[in-house]
Amino acid sequence: KIVPVIMAGGKGTRLWPLSRASAPKQFIQFVGDRTLFQATLSRVSDPALYEAPVVITNEDFRFLVAEQAREIGIALSAILLEPVARNTAPAVAAAATLVSRRFGGDAVLQVLASDHDIVADAAYFNAIRVAQQTAADGKLVTFGITPTEPATGYGYIEIGAALPGGAHIVRQFVEKPALPEAQRMVETGGFVWNSGIFMFSAGQVLDEIHGLTPAVGRAAREAVEKGSSDLDFTRLDAEAFMLCPDISLDYAIMEKTSNAAVVPSSFTWSDLGSWDAVWKLGDRDDNGNVRSGNATLVNTKNSLVMSRTSHLAVQGLEGVAVIASEDAVYVGRLCESQDVGKLVKQLASAK
Ligand code: GDD
Ligand code: MG
Repeated sequence: KIVPVIMAGGKGTRLWPLSRASAPKQFIQFVGDRTLFQATLSRVSDPALYEAPVVITNEDFRFLVAEQAREIGIALSAILLEPVARNTAPAVAAAATLVSRRFGGDAVLQVLASDHDIVADAAYFNAIRVAQQTAADGKLVTFGITPTEPATGYGYIEIGAALPGGAHIVRQFVEKPALPEAQRMVETGGFVWNSGIFMFSAGQVLDEIHGLTPAVGRAAREAVEKGSSDLDFTRLDAEAFMLCPDISLDYAIMEKTSNAAVVPSSFTWSDLGSWDAVWKLGDRDDNGNVRSGNATLVNTKNSLVMSRTSHLAVQGLEGVAVIASEDAVYVGRLCESQDVGKLVKQLASAK
C-alpha cells in the first residue's frame, strides 16, 4: 500500500489576509465544504490503496491538523512536527526517514501538497497507479500538468523517452523559471508543469537526498532519531533540525537527480496559489465576478470580492480582488496577485 505524506507546513502568504500566519491557506475553506487540507486527506483515504496518512507540519499548526482530521473522521498514522520551517526538502527527508523506519525502505510514498484543488477522478487514480509502479522501480515520479499560461510560480518538466508502464524520463526539470524562459517552454511544447505531487520509495528518495544534499539528509535523520513522541505528535529534535539548510525538494533534488520520471496527466488540478487562481476557480456570475460573504457590486466586472465580516460595496472596478478578513482588508489588481507575498513581507517588517 502507498504511504501518503502530506506537507502542511507552508505559510501561504500570497492569499493574505484570509491566509494568516496563525492559520495558513491549507487550513481554510475556499471551495466546497472542506478545507484544502481536509480535501487532500480525503483523496488518500481509500484503505484498499493507502496506509493511514503521515502529516508533516509546523509545531504551530499541530492542533489545526489534529482537529481537522478528526472532524472528517480520518485517522492519521503520524503527525510529524517541525520546530522551525525549513521548506520541503527537509520536511520530505524527515518524513521519509520516519516511514522507512516504520514500513521499510521499499515503502512507496505519495508526497502531497496540502493546498491544491484536485478532482480525484479516473484519470487521477490511473496516473497514481502508473506512478506507483514506476516509483517501485526506483524512480522519483512527478505528475505533469499541461500548461495553460507561462506561469512563473511552478516547476517545468521537459518530457523525455517513454518508460515501460506509461511514465516518461524527465529530460530537464526547471523550478520557477523567469518569464522569458517560461514563455519559451510553453511555446516550444514538450514541457508540463510539476503538480507538486511526488511518488518514490522511502529508500530511493533518502539515497538521493544523502547524495545530492547531505546536510539535509544528516540533519533530518538526526532530528528523527533524537525526536520525541507524545500521544498523537512526533516532534523532530529542535537542535538538529535547526541546522538543516532551508531548501525546497524541487531545487534540492528534482532539478538535480538523474532518476526523475513524469506521468503526464489530464486530471483537473489547481494550485490555489493566488487570488487570481481563486477567482478562476470560483463560480463566476454574468459579469465575471466571484464573491463570498456580504458584498454589493455595482458596475464591477471580473473581480473577486470576499468578506468574512463587514459589508463590502464595490463600484466601477474591473479585474480586482477585494478581500476582507476579521482584521485586515486587501485591495489589488488580480493580475498582480502573484506578488501579494512581497507585500506581506513589507507588512511584517513594518511592524
Ligand atoms: N511541512 C512543511 N514544511 N510543509 C511545507 C513547508 C515546510 O517548511 N513549506 C511548504 N510546505 C508545504 C506547503 O504547505 C504546500 O502544501 C507544499 O508544501 C508546497 O509548498 P509551496 O510553498 O506551496 O510550493 P510552491 O507552490 O511554491 O511550489 C511547488 O508546488 C508547485 C505546484 O503547486 C513546487 O513543487 C513547484 O515545482 C510546483 O509546480
Ligand atoms: Mg503551492
